[in-house]
Amino acid sequence: MDLLGNVLWGPDWSEVRAQWMLDPEVAHLNHGSYGAVSNPVFERQEEIRRSAESNPHDFFLRKLYDQIDAARSIAAEFVGADLHSFSFIRNTSLAINAALRSIDFERGDELLLSEHVYQAVYQAALDLERRHGVRMVEIPIDIGWSPSEIQDAFLQGVTVKTKAAIVDQIASPTGLVFPANEIVQGLRSKGVITIVDGAHAPGMVDLNVKELDAHFWVGNFHKWVCSPRGAAGLVMDEEASHFFRPTIISWRHQEGYPNSVAWQGTDDYSSFLTVPDAIRFMSSLDWDRARRHNRELAAWGSELVSRAIGEQPVQFYPGTAEAMGLIRLPKGLVFDHGSARRLDIEISRSLKCEVRPIAWRDGFIRVSAQVYNCPDEFERLADGLPEVIRQLR
Ligand SMILES: Cc1ncc(COP(=O)(O)O)c(C=O)c1O
Repeated sequence: MDLLGNVLWGPDWSEVRAQWMLDPEVAHLNHGSYGAVSNPVFERQEEIRRSAESNPHDFFLRKLYDQIDAARSIAAEFVGADLHSFSFIRNTSLAINAALRSIDFERGDELLLSEHVYQAVYQAALDLERRHGVRMVEIPIDIGWSPSEIQDAFLQGVTVKTKAAIVDQIASPTGLVFPANEIVQGLRSKGVITIVDGAHAPGMVDLNVKELDAHFWVGNFHKWVCSPRGAAGLVMDEEASHFFRPTIISWRHQEGYPNSVAWQGTDDYSSFLTVPDAIRFMSSLDWDRARRHNRELAAWGSELVSRAIGEQPVQFYPGTAEAMGLIRLPKGLVFDHGSARRLDIEISRSLKCEVRPIAWRDGFIRVSAQVYNCPDEFERLADGLPEVIRQLR
């Protein structure tokens, strides 16, 4: 694909795009799911791996903890957390599972979440429901609602039985930005344990996790900070750090959090060590410029594609959408995992576009915009999607 340029970014966009090894034939419009690592950061990780292989004993026994600590302090500062409250963890799934298992739920207790919750997190909640009799309370929240409407709806779900809540910061199926600070504050005042799923937050929005003041917060660096995969940050307040039970009990367990999660068994820890490089690389592009670009491109692109397939563009309340946009699909096209997969495969095969069809409500496509994307890629999707839909109906 001949990517001509990007007026939304500016004349230096080709140089930015060249920093990623992404296949130029493909429109990569799904940064949100798996991220994408820039070349310099990829090379830095290779360097770390090489150095580890030159003397594994020296690397693991003598160097690793100090190096992780150095990376931790940069990562903690980036998300606005105190160093003692922050640890690296592989991913958001692991952190949320560990948080849920650390809470002493009793039969009949309620776990509050919204219908925008990430499906794998929903499965973890469902497991609690089935195995321990915890009742999941799922709050419907419409796109287009203002932050205060979202906040009110969420908090109205609290009852005397609500033990804990999972609050999305930026939702997976819809990209909706939740007023997480206000929701956490409201939940805290009612004595509810708060778990904030900030998987998409690092890099997509400015963070001050200390001020957010949740019991548990987790965010992925491998999404919008473009670090290597397997690098998330977990932050806990004092209270949670006392009742937290790491999923893997290992060497440093007796030291308590955060050291108790520093070693999770023999593994490749290079993704943690590369997080500072990823932060530096993305900062060098200018976060404000990147965020403005991504927000505008996601909004423009999703509206363009929506109109092309004859659907009403999805209207977010101002300030509740960032780098991910939604395209409403004709009813009946995407309604479960299988139908979403069928559309995904067909769009990829015939248009060479990677997007995320989502079986949320009546079916949507979620598109992402990262700095390496450009309007041409959305135009390709807009040009080809009507025919793909016609063929599948
Ligand atoms: C909101 C949300 N929570 C959790 C996850 C899971 O992240 P991971 O696969 O890194 O565990 C994702 C991944 O897309 C997500 O979007």
